[in-house]
Parts: sequence; C-alpha cells; structure tokens
Amino acid sequence: MRAIAVSAFRADPALVEIPKPEPKAGEVRVRIEYAALNPCDWQVAQGSLDDEPAPRVFPLVVGVDFAGRVDMIGSGGNRFRVGDQVFGRVAGPASGAGTYCDYVSVPQDSAVTLVPDGLPLRTAAALPSAGMAAAEILEIAVLRGHESLLVIGAAGGVGSCLTQLASARDVRVLAAVRGDERKRMAALGATVTIDTTNRPLEAAVRETCPVGVDALVDLVSTTPDAFAARAALVRGGGIALTTQGVAAEAALPADVTGIDFRLEPTPVLLDVLAEGVAEGVLRVPIEIELPLEKAPQALDRNRTGGARGKTVIVL
Ligand SMILES: NC(=O)c1ccc[n+]([C@@H]2O[C@H](COP(=O)([O-])OP(=O)(O)OC[C@H]3O[C@@H](n4cnc5c(N)ncnc54)[C@H](OP(=O)(O)O)[C@@H]3O)[C@@H](O)[C@H]2O)c1
Repeated sequence: MRAIAVSAFRADPALVEIPKPEPKAGEVRVRIEYAALNPCDWQVAQGSLDDEPAPRVFPLVVGVDFAGRVDMIGSGGNRFRVGDQVFGRVAGPASGAGTYCDYVSVPQDSAVTLVPDGLPLRTAAALPSAGMAAAEILEIAVLRGHESLLVIGAAGGVGSCLTQLASARDVRVLAAVRGDERKRMAALGATVTIDTTNRPLEAAVRETCPVGVDALVDLVSTTPDAFAARAALVRGGGIALTTQGVAAEAALPADVTGIDFRLEPTPVLLDVLAEGVAEGVLRVPIEIELPLEKAPQALDRNRTGGARGKTVIVL
C-alpha cells in the first residue's frame, strides 16, 4: 500500500510502498479515504514527541486522524462490521500505526467509532484530534464557571473548534491570531479578535477584561517564559492551560493554576462531537484538501505556521 513515512526521526517524510497491515485479534482494518493533518504529525516525525521507551519501527507512517470503511475484521468478537464507515485517531507512534496511508488496523476498543448519518467522511477525518482536544480543554478550562477565555493561536484546528464550543456556552472568547482574521473568528463565535502582529496583546486584553481573563488557553508558546508572560493576563483564581507541556516549568502568578494539557482520546467523545457536527452545532473548517503525494509539502507548511482550520489528505 502507499504511505507517507519517515525512515528515521528527522528524515524527510516521503511516499513509500509498504505491506498492508493485517488486523490482529480484536482489531479492525480500515480502508482510509481521508486523513487529516495535525502538528503532532511532523512533531512525531522529527522525534520531538518521542518520550516513550518502546523502540520505534521504521519506516514510521505519519498521521493520527482518519476516516474510511472497515474492510477486514480480526479474529474474535467485534463491534464493527465490514463496510462500516468509521473515523478515529490512532494512538501515535507507540502503536506502530499511522494514517497517511491506504489501510490502518486499530483495536476495536480504541478511539474509533461509526460515522453518523449526515456526516461526510471528509469532515469526520478532520474532527478527531482538534475536536477532542477542544472539547476536553473546554471541560478543564472553561466549565468551572469561567466566563472569559483568551485563546492564543485561535485560527488553527484546535482554536477553531474551541472558539465555537466555548461561545456556544456563552463564554466570551478573545481570539488571539496573527493577521486580519476578524471575519473568520467572529463567524466562529469570537467576541473579540486580536491581531497580535499589529497590536500588543496585553493592551487589547485589558481593554475587554481590565482585571484579566478567567482562563487562558495557549496553543502556541513553546517556552515556559513565553507561557508565563501570557499567564500574567489571567485574573487571580483563574486558569492558564498550555498544549505545549511548558506549564510545570513556568513561573506563573501564585494565584493562577497552570495546566499541562494532554489529550485523552475516547470513542464516546468522538460520538458526541460527530453528533454535534452532523446537527450543525459544530463546524469543522476545512481549508485545504490535497492528494497523498502532496502531504510532505503540507507538513512543511504547517511547521512554518499560518494554519487556518484543517487540512485533509485524500487517499
Ligand atoms: N498536548 C496535547 O495533547 C495536544 C493536543 C492537541 C494539540 N496540541 C498542540 O497544540 C498546538 C495547536 O494545535 P492545532 O491543531 O490547532 O495547530 P494548527 O492547526 O497548526 O494551528 C496553530 C495556529 O496557531 C497560530 N499561531 C502560531 N503562532 C502564533 C502566535 N504567536 N500568535 C497567534 N497565533 C499563532 C497559527 O497561525 P499563524 O502561524 O498564522 O499565527 C495557527 O493558526 C500544536 O502545537 C499541537 O501539537 C497538543
């Protein structure tokens, strides 16, 4: 089968031919129709998320999100049938499975579920990582009575979903982006959009929330100091959450709770999100669609920034 894979950490992702995976007991094999791009795809390929002791198997197939049809069932009982339309997220490099390829085998009890009626496979593929991260972040950072939320990096995959889910709960979202994205972010429900390339973030935040925001979700700061500087915009008793694993090392104000977010994918959460999209409550903005062979260039582009909504790869 075709796959985009790396031959070693930090090698360039390239199109290769590898054997189709055989589903083991309790697994389903999916003929992938769409995969979606996430920053963790190039982060894994360059070895920067490799914090687990298990040895890696190369070539390492890139990608975690997928949607397609079940084409084979492993031995034993299984909740899926051949032909089912499914979507989900593989567990990452430790699982030995990737999704920028024609077929993937996944455990039936992992983060994989049926695509509900009315949800196109293309949209389903774009949902798992960004949608689940946004939903879990919302639970942690917002639904504890917090009314204002500053999102740094709001125009990308996670930020686009989080802005919608938070504003649907009457949270005032201050969306920090680079560039003039007012129209896009307002359509997703942002109360205020701050273009950090033409206005200091602090002044813009204080204008709306003079004593600081209730919660910060920082999707972009990669150093403890940069995260701490943004956490200074949170009011006493508030929450500062990062997706970059820098909270533990950051010198945060004593009365601000720092949280290092780590996604915990579940099939139940996928079901909830998929229903939301099928019913029109949540929109997954797909900005770019490209064939498998163009995925290496798309990974390069994402690494240099500028993501708007989601990129999907057609198999
Ligand atoms: N820890 C976890 O479990 C977990 C889970 C999900 C995601 N993540 C991480 O969270 C991050 C965001 O994920 P994503 O899927 O939303 O990525 P994405 O789709 O690539 O979007 C990132 C967004 O951040 C913007 N950005 C970068 N620097 C910025 C700055 N200084 N100010 C304002 N905006 C800025 C980018 O646009 P511009 O470059 O144009 O500004 C882009 O819109 C990634 O690093 C991802 O790996 C972690």
